[in-house]
Amino acid sequence: MSRRRTPLAALAVACLTLVVPATAHADTYSPGSAGLGDPYFPHAGNGGYDVEHYDLKLRFNPKTDVLSGTATITATATKNLSRFNLDFSGLTVRKVEVNGKKATFRRKGQELTVTPAAGPADEAKFTVSVQYDGKPKPVNDPELGVTGWIHTKDGATALGEPDGARTWFPVNDNPKDKATFAYTVSVPVGLTVLANGEPRNTGIVRVRNGWSSVKWEMREPMAPYLAMVAIGKFKVTQGTAAGVPNITAYDPVLAKTSKYLHRTTAKATEWGVKHFGPYPFSSTGGIADKVDVGYALETQGRPVYDGDVSDDLLIVHELAHQWFGNSVGPQTWRDIWLNEGFATYAEWLYEETHNGPTAKQTFAKLYKSKGEFWQLKTGNPGRNGMFDWEAVYQRGAMTLQALRQKIGDETFFELLPAWTEKHRHGTANTRDFIDLAEEMSGLDLDPLFNAWLYKAAKPKL
Ligand code: ARG
Ligand code: ZN
Repeated sequence: MSRRRTPLAALAVACLTLVVPATAHADTYSPGSAGLGDPYFPHAGNGGYDVEHYDLKLRFNPKTDVLSGTATITATATKNLSRFNLDFSGLTVRKVEVNGKKATFRRKGQELTVTPAAGPADEAKFTVSVQYDGKPKPVNDPELGVTGWIHTKDGATALGEPDGARTWFPVNDNPKDKATFAYTVSVPVGLTVLANGEPRNTGIVRVRNGWSSVKWEMREPMAPYLAMVAIGKFKVTQGTAAGVPNITAYDPVLAKTSKYLHRTTAKATEWGVKHFGPYPFSSTGGIADKVDVGYALETQGRPVYDGDVSDDLLIVHELAHQWFGNSVGPQTWRDIWLNEGFATYAEWLYEETHNGPTAKQTFAKLYKSKGEFWQLKTGNPGRNGMFDWEAVYQRGAMTLQALRQKIGDETFFELLPAWTEKHRHGTANTRDFIDLAEEMSGLDLDPLFNAWLYKAAKPKL
């Protein structure tokens, strides 16, 4: 402010800047949208803000099945918000506060709508805390199976892909909105808690009145669907791999695969670094638990395996997701082949580099497939087909092999780490991948990607 102005004039200017909006509508506040336009999950995520951090304080009693929690979410408004939504299903909401002041809320479907006494202005940082409790129910999707808070014999394990996170905490459940996570989990003494990331306070467990509480922290940005806690009787093994802690755990009923899980996790993490670039998180690991969902999930930094693990390719697949899917996340669920096609291709590459068939041979075998296989659209498999083994996993991996054959090994093996570097801890879409491949190869690759990703016909070689 200029020294020549009188104090009064200065005050007038200050008032003016407060009162007169910078643009005609800067003083109007409106609701955030109830979705983020995902083509497959239109209700997932919400508009008007961006989450930076989730602080989740949870208490779970496997005997009564009751989960109680306080979620404190730190976010930044992306417009003047009169109210905004979170995704949250089941469980009873007891209290909502915005910036420490009581807010009103209502619920409809998976939407929790929060109306603060004073809505946050555009670009303002704010906190919303939600107190809740109840008996969580997983999502049981007829096409995609069971996700969310899953009860096990000795506790519970939470798995979120694609839209199960809302069953255990209020969330902006869209892969575009990554955030850091801190968990404080209280369970009856005798049970062990694992989660993404690393234990805080070097794993010191606080015990009080028969309850013990542990803190875990995921310090790198994470899409909510990758949030995980596992509660139960676990045996934990600690080591290192690729210069970071390797923390694995197994349900004692799965003891026979425990050493294998720990060793192979270390081996696959180190192998991944050689082909995909620096490991993106501050720890690695894996959890073998009887979750009974019929799939493994690449939960960030620490995948969860359902039952005995004796397949190195499964471990390679889930750890490859740490680069492809977790660090470089999909912008929408339509881009799911960027996760699954790449993780499947990692399996082919692992075999190729471990005296198995070459990726070219695996491709050639699949190329002989008949009928249905060529009717599938890898780049837009539809909501119900997002985990289709043939359309997304196999044709996705074939797309990469077709690309490798076209651009040559040298460029292809520079492209993979360039891709993970360029979008590290971010999100990307298929167009971004094509653009980078074109830039690095100097070739027009639209015909190749069109044929492999978007045409229901067998591509020519
Ligand atoms: N991303 C997991 C994997 O590749 C599969 C997840 C399946 N999720 C589901 N809801 N069915 O191994
Ligand atoms: Zn996968």
